Amino acid sequence: MELPLSGGGGMRRSASHTSLSESDDLDLSRLLNKPRINVERQRSFDDCSLSDVSYSGGHARGGGFDGMYSPGGGLRSLVGTPASSALHSFEPHPIVGDAWEALRRSLVFFRGQPLGTIAAFDHASEEVLNYDQVFVRDFVPSAMAFLMNGETDIVKNFLLKTLLLQGWEKKVDRFKLGEGAMPASFKVLHDSKKGVDTLHADFGESAIGRVAPVDSGFWWIILLRAYTKCTGDLSLSETPECQKGMRLILSLCLSEGFDTFPTLLCADGCCMIDRRMGVYGYPIEIQSLFFMALRCALLMLKHDAEGKEFVEKIATRLHALSYHMRSYFWLDFQQLNDIYRYKTEEYSHTAVNKFNVIPDSIPDWLFDFMPCQGGFFIGNVSPARMDFRWFALGNMIAILSSLATPEQSMAIMDLIEERWEELIGEMPLKICYPAIENHEWRIVTGCDPKNTRWSYHNGGSWPVLLWLLTAACIKTGRPQIARRAIDLAERRLLKDGWPEYYDGKLGRYVGKQARKFQTWSIAGYLVAKMMLEDPSHLGMISLEEDKAMKPVLKRSASWTN
Ligand code: GLC
Repeated sequence: MELPLSGGGGMRRSASHTSLSESDDLDLSRLLNKPRINVERQRSFDDCSLSDVSYSGGHARGGGFDGMYSPGGGLRSLVGTPASSALHSFEPHPIVGDAWEALRRSLVFFRGQPLGTIAAFDHASEEVLNYDQVFVRDFVPSAMAFLMNGETDIVKNFLLKTLLLQGWEKKVDRFKLGEGAMPASFKVLHDSKKGVDTLHADFGESAIGRVAPVDSGFWWIILLRAYTKCTGDLSLSETPECQKGMRLILSLCLSEGFDTFPTLLCADGCCMIDRRMGVYGYPIEIQSLFFMALRCALLMLKHDAEGKEFVEKIATRLHALSYHMRSYFWLDFQQLNDIYRYKTEEYSHTAVNKFNVIPDSIPDWLFDFMPCQGGFFIGNVSPARMDFRWFALGNMIAILSSLATPEQSMAIMDLIEERWEELIGEMPLKICYPAIENHEWRIVTGCDPKNTRWSYHNGGSWPVLLWLLTAACIKTGRPQIARRAIDLAERRLLKDGWPEYYDGKLGRYVGKQARKFQTWSIAGYLVAKMMLEDPSHLGMISLEEDKAMKPVLKRSASWTN
């Protein structure tokens, strides 16, 4: 879908090949020229140091549910010089400089302004596929790196441009997509003869299998909050345009339907795992991002005539969603033993086995994998179906958003330590565990040659996840886990050319079809490093537990709650 950008003066144009108009420019600059406040960040009451965030029965400071004001610690750097390492006594690792250089090489400009980063800058690869695009989800770690380094304009630019893309009428064949849908990716096309830049956005229509990027809108809201938290600049999130953008995303996922659960029903591959991998229904990645986006939106939505209705809906949904996730998606040794002993066909309100899960459907690997200490949110829960696989992103976001209770967060970190070989191996970190093989692989993936066992989305190891692991480690007061993982990554990443993913049970091999110079592998590493050096950055991506959300109740007592 190629879209001209409009100032959105009330009129919607349908997709066509046009360039940015004068009015678009005006509109964008009006938004961009709002006074910037507090870019030079100062330490505030909200700040936290590594010792502050160590877990002592409570939670890390610096990610408060309440204030939007930024934690500080970082100074705006000289262009090209990462602020992080210069600020502290830490010796920067030799690959940090290369990483910054590679990250800057991936920058995409629109009308002279940096707007995002391409997915991969892989010269050696003959086929570019869609890796020359700016993916919304891929840009998040880049954005975090830039924010942490005091380079905030690119993030603001990205947020505003993607918002304008959301505003266009989106059609796939004859079907009109939801108004709030955010693109999976976009591309800047430069016409050197006419000297104009055009944006080409993909809302899933040209992706393989037409996958819907459900996560894009959630990441957009999460990034808007990170920007606001980092800069202290409330003027962006308070613009009518951003308020409307949030409301449109929210109306897509808060509308009433036939649901009997508060989780969000999705098609397969609608998130980071964007191919058929059996992640349809209620995948953990989407539920965690949904939860986090709702909480971020709650912090930013105005309580005006239009916003109020959403604020109320969000509060109700969060309450139900946290209950559901903490009760039914949570699995530890005790819970597994309970499910193993489940009776089936219980039809009354007192049923313990609410989803009629047949104990025989518990896979064999799980009995050995489950440690006595530790637990995690499983991949999916729906009628008679529990997907017991571990998915890293969903679990890390559950910790960061405080969807996980403090006890559950600690248990997830315990599991990572207990099952280091399986979940981290030689390269952090497994996107999911275990891989599916043979007949199951044929049925679930549709014989996908990219997703063979222990490769790519099917049990591959993705360095990008390092930044989320590090954030979760800091939040739970276990930075030593992150240090160990970063150590492993540092041994290989530069040498191997920053691959997109690694293959094998231990993640020892550069992925079969992995791109090199994959931007989010680079940015993920940098963000992990910067966060460890200055844990006050955690506040940008972490939310404290909301005391109003009730702790989990006993399963059998849940009917009336
Ligand atoms: C692959 C990944 C997806 C990512 C894209 C660009 O399709 O599965 O998560 O956004 O590459 O890097």
